[in-house]
Amino acid sequence: MATEVTPKVALAGFRRILGADAVLTDRDAIAPCLTDHRKLYEGTALAVLRPGSVDEVSQLLAFCNGTRIGVVPQGGNTGYCGGATPDGSGRQVVLSLARLARLRSIDATNHSMIAEAGCILANLQREAEAVDRYFPLSLGSEGSCQVGGNLSTNAGGLNVLRYGMARDLALGLEVVLADGRVLSSLGGLRKDNTGYDLKSLFIGAEGTLGVITAACLKLFPRPRAVATAFVAVRSVAAAVDLLNLLREASGDRLSSFELIPHVAIELTTRHIPGVAQPLAGEYPWCVLCELGSARAADPLDSMLENALRDAMDGGLLDDAALAQNERQRAAFWRLRESIPEAQRHEGASLKHDIALPIASLARFVDEASAWIASNLPEAMLVAYGHVGDGNLHFNVNARAGTDPLRLVARADEVQRVVHDLVASLGGSISAEHGIGRLKVPELERYAPPAKLDLMRAIKHALDPNGIMNPGKVLRSA
Ligand code: FAD
Ligand code: MLT
Ligand code: ZN
Repeated sequence: MATEVTPKVALAGFRRILGADAVLTDRDAIAPCLTDHRKLYEGTALAVLRPGSVDEVSQLLAFCNGTRIGVVPQGGNTGYCGGATPDGSGRQVVLSLARLARLRSIDATNHSMIAEAGCILANLQREAEAVDRYFPLSLGSEGSCQVGGNLSTNAGGLNVLRYGMARDLALGLEVVLADGRVLSSLGGLRKDNTGYDLKSLFIGAEGTLGVITAACLKLFPRPRAVATAFVAVRSVAAAVDLLNLLREASGDRLSSFELIPHVAIELTTRHIPGVAQPLAGEYPWCVLCELGSARAADPLDSMLENALRDAMDGGLLDDAALAQNERQRAAFWRLRESIPEAQRHEGASLKHDIALPIASLARFVDEASAWIASNLPEAMLVAYGHVGDGNLHFNVNARAGTDPLRLVARADEVQRVVHDLVASLGGSISAEHGIGRLKVPELERYAPPAKLDLMRAIKHALDPNGIMNPGKVLRSA
């Protein structure tokens, strides 16, 4: 039986479940949890709740379900689509997973680990390394994002080409459902065909179907040989040809293949201390690529060098620098991973996280760039990203010293042009950043009606009272 309660009664309920210290209401203390990383949204909340156990999460959800209080799960709050920010009603709570941060177990034999949702991604990478294993999920935000957030957004990042997205790295989940029941599949099985794959529903659901409290994650043999190169390609089409050439020449040992335009090199070297030009000349497009192998004796450097020489002979590239040591490799990666931060320093950015069939990437870049050049001559196009996965961050930046509001005023128009072109080429309007609050209307516009119907039916079945992250991914009923 539902009973809506006053804020005072709600807070008393939270304190009874968690104890007073884990129910935060002080305005200054909770302010960082009420806005998103990009500062697109600002909300209010009854409280920020910091449960310390799965049982406490379960009791909280049962309470919120009974009292119709909206629950906004929050991990590292690095998401790009406003998914972890409460609305302005003051009738929602932020449920922080930060205290559920224990590595419950790690099993080198099974190549798996069971981690609680609040574990910071970079810490999990280190835990895997400590038992001579590799956890390949890697993003620029890995020092602060949490694995529960990574699974809830189905994060991609820098190694998807070889290891897949967060979804591909999950063997099982522990999830607290909207009514407080706990669903667990942490057995570490690689094969389990006993009915529907329920865990998959919660991955990429952005907290709209339940709260992920733990996950059993896949580990891999640690790469012992690595070869990395920064390459100036002739064009985006040449980058795609190089991708295929490298996959074949390396026996599919390619783990990353990132497109980097000249403007991103210019921005990172200007705004980020310590970032240096990787190549002597200036080239419109570069690629950062990496091969990895678990066999220390694999001659990856020569494999990469030979393949790049063939590519140069074939007219695909103009110059290349192979990392000569770990320091140089780290410098290449630092440049790549600092692009979002450098963009932020430069000014406001209209972000488009798009995916396309790889064969259509070059056409997309040509057509979309031409439109930007003739319609927004003041803006700076920063198109980069995970080309090995067909995923581009097609970002349009305000130049330093120009009025960012003039660009922001054109955001809807630019988005329509970019997304219409993406849709016409059979692509996706959200490759890896999710929908959150930001892209709800875009999802409604581009998703097939049958998909939206099924999504709404699933939402209703799992969360009939609509308490889980209301208004995110799907409009509130
Ligand atoms: P939050 O931002 O806290 O939450 C994201 C969503 O998940 C919200 O809807 C929230 O309600 C929900 N959620 C969080 N935890 C849980 C949980 N335990 N249970 C249920 N729901 C939950 N993303 C990429 O995919 N690839 C990249 O390469 C990449 N690079 C980035 C680089 C930078 C510098 C930054 C700032 C961000 C980048 N991101 C990238 C975006 C972001 O880091 C990812 O989306 C990340 O997975 C979010 O994790 P988080 O813990 O910060 O989640
Ligand atoms: C990245 O790959 O750097 C991010 O996903 C894109 C971004 O931060 O805009
Ligand atoms: Zn990305």
